[in-house]
Amino acid sequence: MARKKNVSSPPLNDSPGSLLYDSQGLAWLVLDDAAKKVNTLSSRLFVWFEEQLDRLESEPPAGLVITSGKPDGFVAGADLEELLAVADKEAVIALLQRGHAAMERLAGLPFPTVAAIHGACLGGGLELALACHFRVATEHRKTKLGLPEVQLGLIPGLGGTQRLPRLVGVPGALDLILTGKQLDARRARKLGLVDDTCHPVDLARAAERWARTRPGKRAAAGGIARRATDLIARTPVAERLIFDKARSGVLTKTAGHYPAPLVAVEVVRDGLKLPLPRALDVETGAFSELVVSEAAKNLISIFFMKTAVEARAAKVARAARPVPRVGVLGAGFMGAGIAQVLAAKGTPVVLKDKDLAGLGRGLGFAAQEFRGLTKRRRLTEAESKLALGRIHGTVDGTALARIDLVIEAVFEDVGIKHQVIREVEAVAPESLIFASNTSAIPIATLAQASRRPENVVGMHFFSPVAKMPLLEVIRHPGTSDEAVATVVDVGRTMGKTVIVVNDGPGFFTTRVLGAMLNEAAWMLAEGADIARVDQAMVRWGWPVGPFALLDEVGLDVAKHAGGVVREALGERLEAPAVFDRMIGDRRLGRKSKRGFYLYEDDEKKGQRPVDPAVYRLLGWRAQPFEEEEAVDRCWLQMLNETARCMEEGILSDPADVDIGVIFGFGFPPFRGGLLREADHRGLSWVVDRLDELAGRHGTRLEPAPLLRDMARRGAAFHPR
Ligand code: NAI
Repeated sequence: MARKKNVSSPPLNDSPGSLLYDSQGLAWLVLDDAAKKVNTLSSRLFVWFEEQLDRLESEPPAGLVITSGKPDGFVAGADLEELLAVADKEAVIALLQRGHAAMERLAGLPFPTVAAIHGACLGGGLELALACHFRVATEHRKTKLGLPEVQLGLIPGLGGTQRLPRLVGVPGALDLILTGKQLDARRARKLGLVDDTCHPVDLARAAERWARTRPGKRAAAGGIARRATDLIARTPVAERLIFDKARSGVLTKTAGHYPAPLVAVEVVRDGLKLPLPRALDVETGAFSELVVSEAAKNLISIFFMKTAVEARAAKVARAARPVPRVGVLGAGFMGAGIAQVLAAKGTPVVLKDKDLAGLGRGLGFAAQEFRGLTKRRRLTEAESKLALGRIHGTVDGTALARIDLVIEAVFEDVGIKHQVIREVEAVAPESLIFASNTSAIPIATLAQASRRPENVVGMHFFSPVAKMPLLEVIRHPGTSDEAVATVVDVGRTMGKTVIVVNDGPGFFTTRVLGAMLNEAAWMLAEGADIARVDQAMVRWGWPVGPFALLDEVGLDVAKHAGGVVREALGERLEAPAVFDRMIGDRRLGRKSKRGFYLYEDDEKKGQRPVDPAVYRLLGWRAQPFEEEEAVDRCWLQMLNETARCMEEGILSDPADVDIGVIFGFGFPPFRGGLLREADHRGLSWVVDRLDELAGRHGTRLEPAPLLRDMARRGAAFHPR
């Protein structure tokens, strides 16, 4: 966006940017790394940046504007690959100190400096902007400001923990630093993070105006508390109020598994008592400890795995056929959710149910979701209305006559699904791709009813559709590459991280989750306590325990999915009588307000009590059990089933497994995934533990041949 007229030197192609002096005496530093799609802060950039600072100091302009040459981004953060490659603490400290020195030089320039921000201004990008005297940002959807480092197990490392609270006050700064949340330009202005906002076409002009202003006391680098809240935060009473509250908030949310936000609270608190240069040293020390921690390594590895999985999906999607409209069959919980997300992302949908009652419920659900988005200011009222208008509800099958892709989400019943395939193929074009959202039925079984089985594919969404980031695409042996590419493409436009797996009962996710839930049910049958098992699992890092999860999924649904898998894969997956007894007593879980837990008071927050009637129903007798063993039985049985999926070729890439379990059902992210946890323990440990558990609790726990083989070879799933 920088105006390039009357400049004194041309940009260099192999450098990460250019520094241009215009005829009005302003300097324009344009970050534009030709080697990368987005600008990131790397040591290469810092070397170049230091050279530009030399010039700015020796030939001071009237003012400086720092901006980006990328169409959609300012600076997306630090170069993570480079950071990860630095293994020892001393090297990290040296890297950060060099970065701090450059930021301090920038902050100390004797003329006005302005960050002109359009697009992502995150992490190190925002820290660079914080070292400028002023910040101007565009009012555009793509403009986002934030410090997402905690999500990677880190804290901001280029001054963010110190300059941000000095600029916007402690509560506002902690809110950004501890959550990693991203603000749009208007909210950033309200917080005091940016000085001005404008339309993207006016960015250069607005920045220029600020670059001609004398730097005032608002400079973030000033180190003088500006806001009342900030002054209060320096008193002992406030320390208790603000910092202790932040600390306990973090502990409640993370159960202590994520050290970074706790460290951030301390660094902000301690740093505020010091002059800025010393405060920056506090930040550096804390960062260098965190970056070599197990949690940070695991969280950063998830970031890389996700990037790799998404890049592969993007490649697959290149062979996609364009799909101007999508048909969704079944306006139930899943169908309505799928239709709503498609419409929100701009795709017109024909939503068909078998009757008006079902359709009405589905449309009502979609309308409610859009109302929620408007209320949370994600969409304007007009955008919500427009999006809802993209869903055309019907009970008439002929409405699917000109549809290229149908996503089916009717009842989980082979007979009904077969009938639906025949009905749709009777009216839809020859080229129709039929995708099923079945949770467990093999796609090849469904394709038997199709005249064009090559166009039948699985699209397994997770509930609730709008929230859950994973889509599992399933190809049966006859599915065409084009059908796979097309549904992967649609999944990507819906904002999902897509993994593609081969066909089988329960595919990957349902099968391995089922193995874990089954093991929990066996423990209950043996006399384990429901609440204690669930609590142990939550302490290990799961979002909820297996019994609470069964109540959410529905016992009938779980039993049905388990039945499909058991029938195909044999006795190893036999379920205990727990499921039949519960269903026989009309205990289907939360939806029937009868399950393992009590649901009498629907408003109730926090931990619900277990329903004591369940123990009577199951003829349960308490038996002593170890919590550690309960946790191991659950995750190891999930691992065991995953190994069998890998043996059978359902999937082979460890990244698909780890992304699948984390994004599909919340495997504890700080552990880096199921296979990373196995690597961490060592496969010999895994095999020994499973053998020991099998000896005590049954042959189903015997380690899969792949695990034995890997343990013998001293192998690991992920490269070390
Ligand atoms: P649901 O019972 O809420 O909705 C099913 C809808 O399909 C109902 O509105 C029903 O009227 C409609 N329907 C039935 N027969 C039809 C036909 N012949 N033509 C048109 N509409 C028809 O069920 P839910 O939970 O939405 O599940 C749907 C599918 O998604 C199932 O295959 C299920 O296994 C799968 N699934 C469910 C998940 C969940 O968490 N609920 C997660 C992932 C997949």
